[in-house]
Amino acid sequence: MAEANPGQPGVDTFTYAGATVELADPASILAAARVGPVTLLRGAAWPAAVRWVEVRVSGADGPAHLFTAEIGIADTERIRSLLLGHDPLGLLLAKRIEAGDPVITRIVDGVGAVAVAAYRKLGLEGAANRAPDRLVDAGLGLQAEAEYDSSGTVLRLRAEVPRAEVNPDHLRGFVGLTLQAVLEIAGPDSLRGRRYTVSREHVPAAPVTTRSVTLDQVGGLTDVVSQLRQIALSFRHPEAMARWGARRPQGILMYGPPGTGKTMLCRALANEIGADFREIRTPEILDKWLGGSERNIKQVFRDARRYRVPTLILFDEFDSIISYAGAGGDAASQAINAVAGIFKQEMNDLIEANPNVLVVATTNFPQRVDASLIRSGRFDVKISVPKPDQDGRAEIFRKMIRGLVAAHDHPGFTMFADDLDLTALAQASAGMTGADIKEVLRRVQLAKAMQDARTGTQAAPINQGDLIASITELAGPRTG
Ligand SMILES: Nc1ncnc2c1ncn2[C@@H]1O[C@H](COP(=O)(O)OP(=O)(O)OP(=O)(O)O)[C@@H](O)[C@H]1O
Ligand SMILES: [Mg+2]
Repeated sequence: MAEANPGQPGVDTFTYAGATVELADPASILAAARVGPVTLLRGAAWPAAVRWVEVRVSGADGPAHLFTAEIGIADTERIRSLLLGHDPLGLLLAKRIEAGDPVITRIVDGVGAVAVAAYRKLGLEGAANRAPDRLVDAGLGLQAEAEYDSSGTVLRLRAEVPRAEVNPDHLRGFVGLTLQAVLEIAGPDSLRGRRYTVSREHVPAAPVTTRSVTLDQVGGLTDVVSQLRQIALSFRHPEAMARWGARRPQGILMYGPPGTGKTMLCRALANEIGADFREIRTPEILDKWLGGSERNIKQVFRDARRYRVPTLILFDEFDSIISYAGAGGDAASQAINAVAGIFKQEMNDLIEANPNVLVVATTNFPQRVDASLIRSGRFDVKISVPKPDQDGRAEIFRKMIRGLVAAHDHPGFTMFADDLDLTALAQASAGMTGADIKEVLRRVQLAKAMQDARTGTQAAPINQGDLIASITELAGPRTG
């Protein structure tokens, strides 16, 4: 628990799950948050399954202090195995959730919340409905909502404390809940011996978001990537745009088959711009009640007009939110058309209303998106994201493998053998998308890990034969 640290005035040191946390001048962090958001813990080192964590405190726009945390997860595989019970802790949790365990200790409740969100991600709704998505610090009465983004790779926590009540304990409590979530993702004991300093950082001149995905990680799609770099450049230089009376794109429609990297490109674009990323999911919008969907979409845009920092708003799977040609006359279609109408109105003057915002929509069915929505001025750029060709696939393999090596190789452990032939892999994987290739690798990684787990000794590095076998296996049931 918290104890004063005589050595450093203003530093509140506490331990959590074996990690030492130094909270530097929490009162001034809370005070600064009234002026603008304060970002904490960015750039810290985390256990392998967690790539980055960003905690934010803001108190400028409302009657409360808002605490949020985003946790970028490298290893969704671990969560999967945890939940499917390949792992004793997962089994335990699954049982407790299954039994609707009423003994809500602080930890179990928190652990449950993360597991529940992951259950939902895995489509195991039954289990998910049984417990709330909350992390709770019972002592403080602090509750954080926990939610995965749709990719399952970012966990978001959110808690609010009325301005009049907020004090350093809440900040400490929220950092504790964040560490609790990290612990659950990365495994028990993963924080032991680590040290974290929570302090106001020196804000760099240009906003830098060290987010998971970058345009460099995209394989193939050279033209698309360079087009996105241009858009990012125009976004970052509003003064040049103003000088020439030029208008940068405000809306981008990305279309192409599933798994070709559209969502990834949007995240990478946000990263390239240094923008916050706000993903709007269909269930957030569509509402079965009369007028509910319209209200929701208006709210999204009302919020968007207020963003003070550059923000990329992604409407993923746009066609399911918005009208499509040939919509019928039944009530459901009419409701959808009304949503499209509002969307058109809102997009008309968005960039004038708030130059901080860029809207991106993705779809697998561009023909379903009403032409007037993508008329110039609303969505002024349309980008096709096709399946990769052979060179593209080779590059995707190369970049993914390189990423895995960078993340996992260490002295005494080599992930891949020397015999890899990217051209042959690209040939064997004809017709596959980036998402398929990721799955090919995921399966091989899992097989190796299971082999280790069974035998207790390190399996041989992944070689060309392993990869070809995995490609064949994945391609098999698809019959071409
Ligand atoms: N061109 C690519 N380069 C590198 N990785 C890729 C590429 N395409 C897809 N991937 C990988 O596949 C994953 C899934 O792709 P993503 O979700 O971006 O596809 P999508 O086009 O949005 O699919 P959907 O239309 O089904 O939403 C990505 O997170 C990424 O790891
Ligand atoms: Mg997508």
